[in-house]
Amino acid sequence: MPEQNEPVDLVILGAGSGGYAAALRAAELGKSVVMIEKAKVGGTCLHVGCIPTKALLHAAEVADSSRDSEQFGVRTTFESIDMAGVNEYKGSTVARLYKGLQGLVNSRGITLVEGSGKLVSPTAVEVDGTRYEGKHVLLATGSVPKSLPGLSIDGERVIDSEHALQLDHVPSSVVILGGGVIGVEFASVWKSFGADVTIVEALPHLLPLEDEASSKLIERAFRRRKITSQLGARFAGVEQTDDGVRVSLEDGSSIDADLLLVAVGRGPVSEGLGYEEAGVQLDRGFVVVDEYCQTPVPTISAVGDLIATPQLAHVGFGEGILVAERLAGLRVAPIDYAGVPRVTYSSPEVASVGYTEAQATERLGADKITTLTYDLAGNGKSQILKTAGAIKLVAEKDGPVLGVHLVGDRVGELVAEAQLIYNWEALPGEVAQLIHPHPTQSEALGEAHLALAGKPLHTHG
Ligand code: NAI
Repeated sequence: MPEQNEPVDLVILGAGSGGYAAALRAAELGKSVVMIEKAKVGGTCLHVGCIPTKALLHAAEVADSSRDSEQFGVRTTFESIDMAGVNEYKGSTVARLYKGLQGLVNSRGITLVEGSGKLVSPTAVEVDGTRYEGKHVLLATGSVPKSLPGLSIDGERVIDSEHALQLDHVPSSVVILGGGVIGVEFASVWKSFGADVTIVEALPHLLPLEDEASSKLIERAFRRRKITSQLGARFAGVEQTDDGVRVSLEDGSSIDADLLLVAVGRGPVSEGLGYEEAGVQLDRGFVVVDEYCQTPVPTISAVGDLIATPQLAHVGFGEGILVAERLAGLRVAPIDYAGVPRVTYSSPEVASVGYTEAQATERLGADKITTLTYDLAGNGKSQILKTAGAIKLVAEKDGPVLGVHLVGDRVGELVAEAQLIYNWEALPGEVAQLIHPHPTQSEALGEAHLALAGKPLHTHG
């Protein structure tokens, strides 16, 4: 018989963004919480995802600034990328946040159990022979990088994003399989670090989930940066060569490079964890839940990358909070996933919230939709920064804004305002009334809404 602990209110399996957010909120609401984690609190986002990648992207920006400083009349000499130094900066950033998070979990009285857990009943998780019983169990075991059938990731020449974060050198050339978020971000980093980069994307565009106009802008920006994009290209195979890899495509062509990064999506971690035995349903490995993150088993919920909602850390936070509040008896509203902002932190950045033009057209019909594109060429701050890009608004005719799509350096920060516009169902005229600070990039959002409301200011006809 396994050792039995006192039952608690909530047992959480997985301490990534979804799991720890639920733990913190549940504890805040007076619940007793046990959280089980086999690696480190913070999960993918903090240790092998958002945070370390964005540190690399910032180092890449610094490299570009030093290389391109002359256009601002500042003379510098770009010498080289010291990967040991970059990795130290990245590691220390993660370490500081990790320490803060551990302190937070501790200070809220959450019991953290280190080890690999398995669901052994609808109310219990077992870790190394010890059973943790809860009134409710939250599954939050996240996701891992996927590969393709027959494509094995050796961690040396054929790598995934976790290996890519650990590289101790800058490769001289890389092929990136997949032009989604991870592919585009690493392409941006490695190009800034001096590598030759080729992206192979099966669909006709980079970032295929974005509005087509945004995809075209990032493709153009990448062409200017001499990042090669092979679009609509299907991967056939990879073989090792003396000094790297040869990646072949279905059209018979091949590309030689030092490394192949496989970035074709992430899949849920749900196998062998006792989920189905406890009555939880899986669909392609994702735990099936309703709009309140509740499984059909009354005592089991699931959040984060483990369920088939957008695989974003902030979605995990939102879902974790929702479950904690629901279990505490608070009134909660389902998440409008279209209203969750999405940002790709490449140079330039791509950000969006709400519907693409194609999605809005499909929902309402082409005659009910209007769009407006404001070129960042008209925005003072963007000119100062020498960044190109645009803001595209999608709105219902005589109705609210349905989508905001942004491309340009630093526009990731603008999507927070765009999020309020979409989620509060603002009319273009209402946003146009709000005075934006000059000169900021946020002004471009104001200008776009002025134009959509029929009173353009700095817009050419
Ligand atoms: P993804 O789903 O965004 O992109 C994968 C891409 O690979 C797709 O465009 C797909 O068409 C392409 N692909 C699939 N099979 C292919 C093949 N055989 N040949 C060529 N191309 C192929 O997945 P990704 O980029 O791996 O990211 C995983 C998850 O992590 C995503 O959900 C993403 O949103 C999330 N993430 C978010 C970040 C952010 O918010 N900034 C950063 C990194 C990841």
